[in-house]
Amino acid sequence: MRAHPAGPLHGNISQPTAAGAPPADLGALDPHVWPRSAERIDGELHLGGRSVTELARAHGTPLFVLDEDDLRGRAADFTAAFDGADVHYASKAFLCGQVARWMAEDGLHLDACSGNELSLALAAGFPAERIALHGNNKSVVELKLAVDAGIGHIVVDSFDEIDRLLPLAEARVTAGGSPVPVLIRATVGIEAHTHEFIATAHEDQKFGFSLATGDALTAAVRITREPHLELTGLHSHIGSQIFDTAGFEAAAHRVVGLLGQLRQATGEVLPELNLGGGFGIAYLSEDDPVSPADVAARLQKVVAAECAELDLPVPRLAVEPGRAIAGPGTITLYEIGTIKPVRLGASGAPGTPLVRNYVSVDGGMSDNIRTALYDANYTCVLANRGSDAPPALCRVVGKHCESGDILVRDLWLPADVAPGDLLAVAATGAYCWSMASNYNYLLKPPVVAVKDGAATEIVRRQTLSDVFALDAVLADVPAPSPAPSQPAPEHPVGARS
Ligand code: LLP
Repeated sequence: MRAHPAGPLHGNISQPTAAGAPPADLGALDPHVWPRSAERIDGELHLGGRSVTELARAHGTPLFVLDEDDLRGRAADFTAAFDGADVHYASKAFLCGQVARWMAEDGLHLDACSGNELSLALAAGFPAERIALHGNNKSVVELKLAVDAGIGHIVVDSFDEIDRLLPLAEARVTAGGSPVPVLIRATVGIEAHTHEFIATAHEDQKFGFSLATGDALTAAVRITREPHLELTGLHSHIGSQIFDTAGFEAAAHRVVGLLGQLRQATGEVLPELNLGGGFGIAYLSEDDPVSPADVAARLQKVVAAECAELDLPVPRLAVEPGRAIAGPGTITLYEIGTIKPVRLGASGAPGTPLVRNYVSVDGGMSDNIRTALYDANYTCVLANRGSDAPPALCRVVGKHCESGDILVRDLWLPADVAPGDLLAVAATGAYCWSMASNYNYLLKPPVVAVKDGAATEIVRRQTLSDVFALDAVLADVPAPSPAPSQPAPEHPVGARS
């Protein structure tokens, strides 16, 4: 609750700005934060060999620009680091047909967390046997889809789900099919150091079977006795955007302990262990994520040591990175529409700026809810040109009807930024497009993949006609085209430019 006593100014504004001191070069592209192909040519930002001005002209703004080599390169980093393990791309971070195909081609597995993510992956031709289905409330329809498609694993999350799954599994076996392979999702009781809404393995939340109460063991024992289900392993996921590997290591330690308890109770030795995702990325220069190689080495070491201790064979490992594959390689391009200097007060602590420039862009919380929802921090730069202007304290906000519609809370931009300039926000590849909404009837932006000088629209911009089509009254009413402030693309979806 961020309420404060009524007054003309917000509670925290007399504090020194969280933007810190202005950086020496306001246009610098820290390779730690920006996509691998990001570069400035004559001051202008280029990605995948394409200028952002051209991309904005061809596809409109707001626009997600995805560096194909970055995304696939990070996937390859994980598969190399976890050699001998299965790397599942957590598709909730960002999924479309093209990404599903790239991940399939590159040998990854896929984590789907709804029937529709599963349907999309299957429709894109993703091999069913490399898909795992998650979810704390899978419906019978979703489970049937998974069972009929013959997916690799269903990650069972509750006793109700076991009851729902059994008749479907029995029907499959009766029809001559194989038992349904499942994992048990164990809640290992680790408090991950991340935002409360994205921590998932402490006791008081909705996912998984508690290890502490014995539910995880009870569920595992029950499933080993069901002839139509095949318990192939255990699963644990402790949260998201985590930098400290201690939590992953503690979780691995506990879940291997559960493998030991299960062997003691039933004699069964399970061959698989999925340790989930959650590996953090750098949104800001000061963020310090662990490399896939380091995470892999540490997890493999903990699992090997724990198995040796319990005299268990080392299971085949799996991990489920989403953000760490899709996040860093994508930027969002916005056009600035309005700049409003807001006086913060007559005086303040020494060094406290008295003016904050509200830089309004043509998207906002409908294409990036993360700042509003998780207090996430992003950085952005003036993208269409360089500038030598002095720094000005800015807040980049969207065009929604909410004062919490903030994209970048505090940062320094060149003082000469102006309406019509392009801003690029870094590291928006994960959980931005996938969490996009139509709030205020803004339309979902397109996603353009760039590589070696070519740009391909892999998801087209939503149109007002798409939205009208859902409306009982408006379905047949022609929508104005293009929708105000969101131009129609010059290129059809899938076309290369
Ligand atoms: N595996 C499971 C079972 C998960 O629940 C998740 C994420 C992942 C893997 C992938 O986590 P990642 O590697 O991407 O951190 N919307 C939030 C993040 C929610 C994550 C939900 N589960 C955000 O924008 O930060």
